[in-house]
Amino acid sequence: MIIAADSQALRDRLTELRVGGATVGFVPTMGNLHQGHLSLIEQAQNAADIVVASIFVNPMQFAANEDLDTYPRTLEADLSALRQIKADLVFTPSASDIYPQGSENETTIHVPVLGEALCGKERPGHFDGVCTVVYKLFQLVKPTVAIFGEKDLQQLLIIKKMTRDLGLPIDIQSGATQRAADGLALSSRNQYLSADQRAIAPLLWRTLRECADKLPRLPADEVSLTLKAARKTIEQAGFSVDYFELRSLATLSTLSDTSEDCALFVAARLGHTRLIDNIQICAR
Ligand code: PAF
Repeated sequence: MIIAADSQALRDRLTELRVGGATVGFVPTMGNLHQGHLSLIEQAQNAADIVVASIFVNPMQFAANEDLDTYPRTLEADLSALRQIKADLVFTPSASDIYPQGSENETTIHVPVLGEALCGKERPGHFDGVCTVVYKLFQLVKPTVAIFGEKDLQQLLIIKKMTRDLGLPIDIQSGATQRAADGLALSSRNQYLSADQRAIAPLLWRTLRECADKLPRLPADEVSLTLKAARKTIEQAGFSVDYFELRSLATLSTLSDTSEDCALFVAARLGHTRLIDNIQICAR
């Protein structure tokens, strides 16, 4: 496996790997890799000739009060996992390579509407940071296909829109959320949970599933009552809920029924740890 520690090395090594017209699959990550990331790499291996992963904890997507400094950095373990799964190239740039003028002074990309709802409202500027780094990484890697996890469904929808709006010739594919045996979506932030919090955390997925089973059979007024009851269940278990909402997959606007393709989105905190999850519901 090739390790490219800066963008010039990345360009040079990609030129060599592309000889003969090889297609490139790309999986951007912030490292601390788990089975969720590795399943995206496997998907990229099935979709393209060579697979590039990036490991970059992107300062632009963290607000001043968030966990940039404590975000788990496990480069050696990540490289070993990528070697084992036979990724072809891993890009591990520094912040000054990606943001030569400092992340506060660079041009940013803003995806309107989709980028302002849900986590965009709770974490202002977050998706501008995500889109900016993903666009920069796309410009460097020039992938044929890029894969993003459905666990971050809002991020996936935003990246699809950015790619479409900017006319980037990249096929954006999604990978299914990987879960622990008790249903908790795999996330690097799960390791912040205490043993007690970890025992409570699977309630998020259980509540999403129960709600998604019921909603397609309910009239609008009962949908709203069901959402309120689900939120209360989570709060009573000890979560502080940022949102638990039914939203359109096309526009992320709030819905009162499941007559179009939609998803239930949840973001909730256990202590200082913010967990997100979702479940998609096909139009009835
Ligand atoms: O999903 C993530 O890990 C990040 O938001 C991404 C896409 C790697 C951009 O930093």
